[in-house]
Amino acid sequence: MADIAKAGTFTLGDRSVMRMGYGAMQLAGPGVFGPPKDREAALAVLREAVAAGVNHIDTSDFYGPHVTNRVIREALHPYPDDLVIVTKVGTFRGEDGSWVPAQTPADLARGVHDNLRNLGVDVLDVVNLRVGDSMRGPTEASIEERFTAVAELQQRGLIRHLGLSNVTAAQVAEAQRVAPVVCVQNHYNLVHRADDALIDMLAEQRIAYVPFFPLGGFNHIQSEALSGVAQRAGASPMQVALAWLLARAPNVLLIPGTSRLAHLHENLAAADLVLPEDVVSELSHIAQDQSE
Ligand SMILES: NC(=O)c1ccc[n+]([C@@H]2O[C@H](COP(=O)([O-])OP(=O)(O)OC[C@H]3O[C@@H](n4cnc5c(N)ncnc54)[C@H](OP(=O)(O)O)[C@@H]3O)[C@@H](O)[C@H]2O)c1
Repeated sequence: MADIAKAGTFTLGDRSVMRMGYGAMQLAGPGVFGPPKDREAALAVLREAVAAGVNHIDTSDFYGPHVTNRVIREALHPYPDDLVIVTKVGTFRGEDGSWVPAQTPADLARGVHDNLRNLGVDVLDVVNLRVGDSMRGPTEASIEERFTAVAELQQRGLIRHLGLSNVTAAQVAEAQRVAPVVCVQNHYNLVHRADDALIDMLAEQRIAYVPFFPLGGFNHIQSEALSGVAQRAGASPMQVALAWLLARAPNVLLIPGTSRLAHLHENLAAADLVLPEDVVSELSHIAQDQSE
């Protein structure tokens, strides 16, 4: 089994977590809607991740909806003491699977209660307010009112720590005037580098940056340079993409998503892969080369 401790730890809120975590979105059915293709495999992936030392799992009650959280509960409840489950609110799902913004104070309270009930906990470890759309990216708009609404749920004792997702640097700063922010979850990977400055700014503040789509999400990262490095390292391109993220900054926490045990093992083993500095810098040029 991979030694994920080699990737190190980071403080998320008030708890130390392994930098190599797991994202549970892939456990719902196709289109993140409905039941898993293979429920037993979904349970096995979660149990295997925790057995390998993963203590940071990303989820949301709108995955399924409700499905992913219930699978997590079935697989892992009662939860290990060191497990930090990060969830998000701000969206509901339509009956056709559509993603519907749900950002009024009443929607956000309902989202928090959905997560509490389906995860089977009295308090949520970390809740991200998901502001923008994950495919189109964040847009500037004031988030003061909605972040104040989740901060009030935190003050009522339903949430330990707050985070943000699909946000700009200005929105992070605006939220920080309302309440402390312990993590930011945005779209970022080897070829999608819009958040480079934000990552560095958060690193200075010891705030976790959690890239979603670390492997490219629905469209895997493809690049000749990445394949070449992987071949030379005797690793897979996906492992190299994850190892590059680990090398990017100490506050980057990984949550690669998979519904398969074989991919889970492959991804966790990236924690063992140390890329020499010249290789990190070669890979860092991929985004630039692809945008030219
Ligand atoms: N805040 C947001 O708006 C937002 C948006 C998207 C995602 N997220 C979170 O971020 C997490 C990670 O993102 P993601 O799961 O969408 O994208 P990802 O981790 O970049 O990629 C997942 C995709 O890659 C496949 N895969 C995983 N490991 C692989 C491997 N070793 N080799 C080949 N294929 C592999 C998975 O399919 P298999 O199941 O077949 O392995 C799946 O199709 C999610 O699970 C979710 O928790 C958040």
